[in-house]
Amino acid sequence: MSRILITGASRGIGRGLAEELSRRGHDVVATARDVSALEGVPAELRVQLDVTDPASVNRAFAEAGPVDVLISNAGATVRAPLETVPLTEVARLFELNTFGALRVAQAVLPQMRERGSGRLVFVSSVQGRIAMPLIGPYSASKWALEAIAEGLAIETRHFGVDVQVFQPGAVSSGGSERASVFLDEDDPYFPLLGQVGGFRTTPVTVEEFATVVADALEADHVPFRVPVGEAATAQLRARKLAPEDAPFVAAPLDW
Ligand SMILES: NC(=O)c1ccc[n+]([C@@H]2O[C@H](COP(=O)([O-])OP(=O)(O)OC[C@H]3O[C@@H](n4cnc5c(N)ncnc54)[C@H](OP(=O)(O)O)[C@@H]3O)[C@@H](O)[C@H]2O)c1
Repeated sequence: MSRILITGASRGIGRGLAEELSRRGHDVVATARDVSALEGVPAELRVQLDVTDPASVNRAFAEAGPVDVLISNAGATVRAPLETVPLTEVARLFELNTFGALRVAQAVLPQMRERGSGRLVFVSSVQGRIAMPLIGPYSASKWALEAIAEGLAIETRHFGVDVQVFQPGAVSSGGSERASVFLDEDDPYFPLLGQVGGFRTTPVTVEEFATVVADALEADHVPFRVPVGEAATAQLRARKLAPEDAPFVAAPLDW
């Protein structure tokens, strides 16, 4: 049994992870910006944690006590062309998806390093390796997250801390439907929107995703990158095999 702190556990993937890990007998610390949103989430402890707020992060770890595994899940997405996406939105996305994840890792690492054990888990995406049209700011935040995770993996293994990155394609959590949209019908990029669906892989369910993560946490082998779902695995394999002298376009595109 591990003590596992999850960010963004109020709904979607984070909530599914709390449910699956609690069901397996782990000691879950469920966190969210608004602790009342955690009502009904199975957990040993429910704690307020906003990944963009250093004081909130520090308070949460003081309250949580020793943590074996951090699952950095909180995140959001934006649908907009890179030409016109407001830079304030790009900054907001990085503050949440990228710097927020690093902030919580920084908060938990001292105790893991001193103990000589621990695991940092990052919920990335196929978009941590693949750029998708009209979701470019999100892809950028996840590419940066993967660089941070890989850097952390290299730096912290010396202290007995493992790092894992999970890369789902689409997950039927409702998360992508909550994207902030900066694209209207008059936009010159609007026709591209009709083709973006081809990039979206067949969704895995939240339960399927949570099972993959929970199985990985209980396994002896700790692979660094873990694609989740057949479609995501195929997309990532295609990316790996693609020549680097052209942008990788993950689906047929008439543009
Ligand atoms: N859905 C997909 O298709 C998909 C695919 C690949 C990867 N992912 C990744 O999976 C993760 C979860 O996505 P999801 O689909 O479950 O999205 P979701 O249903 O919208 O859930 C996002 C979670 O993040 C929390 N959150 C937002 N801002 C926060 C902040 N500042 N501090 C702490 N928590 C915050 C939300 O809580 P409150 O708003 O209640 O505070 C919510 O619990 C994200 O990292 C996402 O990029 C999703």
